[in-house]
Amino acid sequence: MGFILALDQGTTSSRAIVFNERAQVVASCQQEFEQIFPKAGWVEHRPDDIWRTQLACARGAIEQAGIKASDIAGIGITNQRETTVVWNRKTGLPVYNAIVWQDRRTAAFCDKLREQGKAPLIRRATGLELDSYFSATKLNWILNNVDGARAQAEAGELAFGTIDSWLIWNLTGGRTHATDVSNASRSMLLNIHTLSWDDELLALFDIPRSLLPQVCESSGEIAHCESAHFGAAIPIAGVAGDQQAATFGQTAFKPGEAKNTYGTGCFMLMNTGTEVVESHNRLLTTVGWTVQGQTSYMLEGSVFMGGAVVQWLRDGLGIIEKSADVQALAASVPNTDGVCLVPAFAGLGAPHWDPYARGTLVGMTRGTNRAHIARAALESIALQTVDLVQAMQRDGARPLLELRVDGGASNNNLLMQIQADLLGVPVVRPTVTETTALGAAYLAGLAVGVFDSEQSLLANWQVDARFEPAMGIDERGALLDRWHRAVERSKGWADA
Ligand code: G3P
Repeated sequence: MGFILALDQGTTSSRAIVFNERAQVVASCQQEFEQIFPKAGWVEHRPDDIWRTQLACARGAIEQAGIKASDIAGIGITNQRETTVVWNRKTGLPVYNAIVWQDRRTAAFCDKLREQGKAPLIRRATGLELDSYFSATKLNWILNNVDGARAQAEAGELAFGTIDSWLIWNLTGGRTHATDVSNASRSMLLNIHTLSWDDELLALFDIPRSLLPQVCESSGEIAHCESAHFGAAIPIAGVAGDQQAATFGQTAFKPGEAKNTYGTGCFMLMNTGTEVVESHNRLLTTVGWTVQGQTSYMLEGSVFMGGAVVQWLRDGLGIIEKSADVQALAASVPNTDGVCLVPAFAGLGAPHWDPYARGTLVGMTRGTNRAHIARAALESIALQTVDLVQAMQRDGARPLLELRVDGGASNNNLLMQIQADLLGVPVVRPTVTETTALGAAYLAGLAVGVFDSEQSLLANWQVDARFEPAMGIDERGALLDRWHRAVERSKGWADA
């Protein structure tokens, strides 16, 4: 009875992992689902695809582990954040597709709010940049553009949720409408100082309060799932947004500790403890988690294109067959020969925040080949991370002594070496790079007594590989300078 089932609902796939009481992976299951691009800059998911694949993975992982549902002490949920779903409370049916965090359709609405001088108010209350990345403007779009949605919302018939809420709703057969503080802090509707929905913001974004889920702690029993799903009413005992869960999984519990996840995007989070630290360099202030009444805050740098750049090489350009091939191709040339790629395919996130920036490839000559482009793609992931670290340092963070990494692309040794070279500090990869699911399992396991205390989790963190910087300071400076010139060229390209 010491197992935890972690559900990790990501941007491109749903995963489920069964952990034992020593925090080891016993079984895992993953399914990709369709990405829908209805127009330039728009990204959607079918909510039903998300629920169906997540349920199938959970059942698959339980079966693979060879255990019964009654052996599982708790479920931990972690998820792509900000992605917005609205559904009917009676039928459970979504009124529109999920609008994904990468979607830029509300950029003009954000511009309008900025012109009205609303950005400082939003930053003060939520810690966030006024940007279409977050849920509030997406929810406003659904209410204003889907036939009948606003009237139904005003009649109290609809529910809004990020993906955690959507999964909790479905896992409990529509009995529980809840979210956790870390996910709520990405909605742009939560006041991160009071940890409650903010009336001034609800009025600004024209959102009826009746749509909103109950805000819960990240660790603690929220509800029990319907026994029909797995054969037992397992408690849902931990919930956190995927980047916060990864930070917890990396056991970055102390102020000053940071991690960088190389998933679809790249997300660097630094724990600032119980203090809400305001950024002066366009980073986000966000809730990490609330555990046993104590809330930890984070400074976050969010980069929209990380591992997804490699997918683009594979699916968009077709210059590699599978993602793992990028390492050999990029390593076949000693450098990019002056080529620089800015992967602003979904605009630029921190610290630039330009929804109109677009992907830019500069510096090509007649001698440029696909290997140079592949290497420039890997460099672009590392260079965006350098920008985040530099912004954190300007915000007064302690000097970074090493960078803890995780996520799928952190298994690429060449990328990690490039990262260490460009940062000038060692990069350290733990043995478990599934830290997102692990963090959700920790949050649930602490609540149901499978794990004793945060302290006891520290021993589970082991080094797999350490990458030492080997690049000279002049070369690093020249590469950063070229990168920043390229970034400037990518800005403001798309039509407003
Ligand atoms: O904020 C978006 C982030 O949560 C997406 O994470 O892991 O799907 O790239 P991921």
